[in-house]
Amino acid sequence: MSSGTRPKVLLFGAGGVGTVYLWLLSKAADTTAVCRSNFYVVKRDGFIINSSIFGQGLHFKPEVVRDCEEAASKAASVPYDYVVVCSKAIPGIVPNLIAPAVTPGKTAIVLVQNGVGIEQEYTDAFDSNPIISAVVYLPATQRPAGVIAHGEVEKLQLGSYPTSASQIPARAFTELIRAAGGTAEFHDDIQPRRWFKLLINASWNPICGLTLSKDTDILESCDEAGAVLLAVMMEIRDIANANGCAMTKEEVEYQLSRAQARIPLNAGIEPSMLQDVQAGRRIEVEAIVGNAVRMGKAKGVQCDRLEMLYVLAKALDLQIGRR
Ligand SMILES: NC(=O)c1ccc[n+]([C@@H]2O[C@H](COP(=O)([O-])OP(=O)(O)OC[C@H]3O[C@@H](n4cnc5c(N)ncnc54)[C@H](OP(=O)(O)O)[C@@H]3O)[C@@H](O)[C@H]2O)c1
Repeated sequence: MSSGTRPKVLLFGAGGVGTVYLWLLSKAADTTAVCRSNFYVVKRDGFIINSSIFGQGLHFKPEVVRDCEEAASKAASVPYDYVVVCSKAIPGIVPNLIAPAVTPGKTAIVLVQNGVGIEQEYTDAFDSNPIISAVVYLPATQRPAGVIAHGEVEKLQLGSYPTSASQIPARAFTELIRAAGGTAEFHDDIQPRRWFKLLINASWNPICGLTLSKDTDILESCDEAGAVLLAVMMEIRDIANANGCAMTKEEVEYQLSRAQARIPLNAGIEPSMLQDVQAGRRIEVEAIVGNAVRMGKAKGVQCDRLEMLYVLAKALDLQIGRR
C-alpha cells in the first residue's frame, strides 16, 4: 500500500452515499474527496453526518479538491490505490474526469453505483486497472450541502469486473471497508446481486419518477397497479435469467412485497429517480433501465412494459437536461 500500511483513496462523488463511505474509509485509509457544488462549504466547515446507525452530528473535515487533476497533483509521486466512484451512473462522462488520478496498472476503480452494464466503459478506458463492482444498500441524502442524512442500512456487496478478473483487488477493498467499520461482502460473481437490486430500481424508479409518486401511492392508486408492478419485475427477472443471473418468481414477489408491507404503515418511499426529477437533476435512466432493455432485446426477451418505461423516462431525462 502507498503510505505505510494505509491505502490511499480518492472519492469521486461526495454526495449521500459517497460521504458516508468517505467517513468510514478515513478511519483506515488516507482519503481525499473531489467536491463540486459542495466544495466551498465542505472546505470551510467539513461534513456533518446524521446516521441512524453510526450516530448523529458526526463532524469530519476531509481533504477536498475541486477535480481529479488537482487530486493528481496533490498525490505527487504516490499514486492512489483506489478511486471510489459514487456519482450518479450517467454514462460517457466519468472515465475522462477521473483519468488524471488513475495510475495505469496500479489504481483500482471501485464503482459504488446502481444499475447494470455500468462497468464496461471503465474497462475500455483503463484496460490495465482493476475494476471493482459494488452494489450498495445505504439510504442517504445530502441536504443542505455538507449535511448527510443516513438511514438504517449500510451494506456493500463487492466483486471483480469482469467476473473472470483477479479477485485480489476486490477482496482487498472488501477487507478495507470491514477494517473501517463498514459492512462488506465479497461475491465471486457480483452480477446476480446487481440484477436482484435492479428488480426494485428498474421498476419503482421510473414509475415513481414519471408519476411524482411514492411507491405505496402507486400500489394504492388502482386495482391494476400491483399486477402491473409484478409484470414489470418479471420482465426484469426474465432479462436477468437470459443473461445468466437466475432469479425465481419467489424472489420477485419478495421484492414487491416489501412495498406492499409498508402500505398500512403509511411509509412510502421516494426512489432516487423521483427525488432527482423533483430537484431538476438528470436521472440514471441508461444505467437503471436502458441497459437492461438492450440486454433483454439482444437475447430476444419480451420486455414491452420495461421498454415503454425506458422511452418515457428517457424523454423526461432529455427534457430535464434541456432546462
Ligand atoms: N442515495 C441513496 O440512498 C442510494 C442508495 C443506494 C444506491 N444509490 C446509488 O449510489 C450512487 C450515488 O448516489 P447518491 O444518492 O449518493 O448521489 P448524490 O447524492 O447525487 O451524489 C453524487 C455526487 O456526485 C457529485 N458529482 C457528480 N458529477 C461530478 C463531477 N463532475 N465532479 C465532481 N463531483 C461530481 C455530485 O456533485 P453535485 O452536488 O455538484 O452534483 C454529488 O455530490 C447512485 O448510483 C445511486 O443510484 C444511492
